[in-house]
Amino acid sequence: MDTDFWIESWSQNRIGFHQKDFNKHLVKFWEQLNIPNDGMVFVPLCGKSLDLLWLKQQGHHVVGIEVSELAVSTFFSENNLDYTQSQQDNLVRWESEQLIIWQGDFFNLNQHQLNNVAGVFDRASLVALPVALREKYAQHLKNILPNNTQILLLTFEYDQAKKVGPPFSVSEADVQALYEDKYKIKLLFQEDVINDYPQFKDQGLNSLEEKIFLLKPY
Ligand SMILES: C[S@@+](CC[C@H](N)C(=O)[O-])C[C@H]1O[C@@H](n2cnc3c(N)ncnc32)[C@H](O)[C@@H]1O
Repeated sequence: MDTDFWIESWSQNRIGFHQKDFNKHLVKFWEQLNIPNDGMVFVPLCGKSLDLLWLKQQGHHVVGIEVSELAVSTFFSENNLDYTQSQQDNLVRWESEQLIIWQGDFFNLNQHQLNNVAGVFDRASLVALPVALREKYAQHLKNILPNNTQILLLTFEYDQAKKVGPPFSVSEADVQALYEDKYKIKLLFQEDVINDYPQFKDQGLNSLEEKIFLLKPY
């Protein structure tokens, strides 16, 4: 599942993951991170998520990364946001008030671009990646985040034998294995959301556990 897969998904409008409203778990649990209103936050693999706007509305300075140029340009046009654009190494920086989206491969992002980030909102990023890439993703994220950064992480867990990803199933044990070297991991909430995803029911799933984790650095 490389970046071409995602660029193609966007160009074919296969974006079933996109939500037409703010994510309810972000709205409910974000305050638990206690990030100052003007603090900087990072949204990896952000697509054209409206959660970028919700975080901006809280007063945060928001940094995202997204590989699809179509996703980024659509985000700015659909939300009537003016932007400036510049090339920095192999990433394109799209910037508007309180918001920067780096367009390019997440693995090309470096720690200077995330200087001052205090919180991360990860929805549908970790679960977007197959196992091998997921480990590389978590390692790179840990390498480039400032030491004191907290992460609000949303995952799905289901019987992977019954359906192929994405989204891929990520268990609590997977989250521990990926992050416990640097973070204390707390499960904040979980619920079976299979009834919200009839397409997954059709693929044979009878449960789909959505889990919300708070990761605090030791
Ligand atoms: C499942 S979507 C989730 C989007 C967003 N987080 C949301 O909640 O709507 C995963 C996104 O990651 C992007 N993506 C996948 N691999 C990437 C990579 N290596 N670097 C940057 N973006 C990537 C895809 O283009 C896609 O928009």
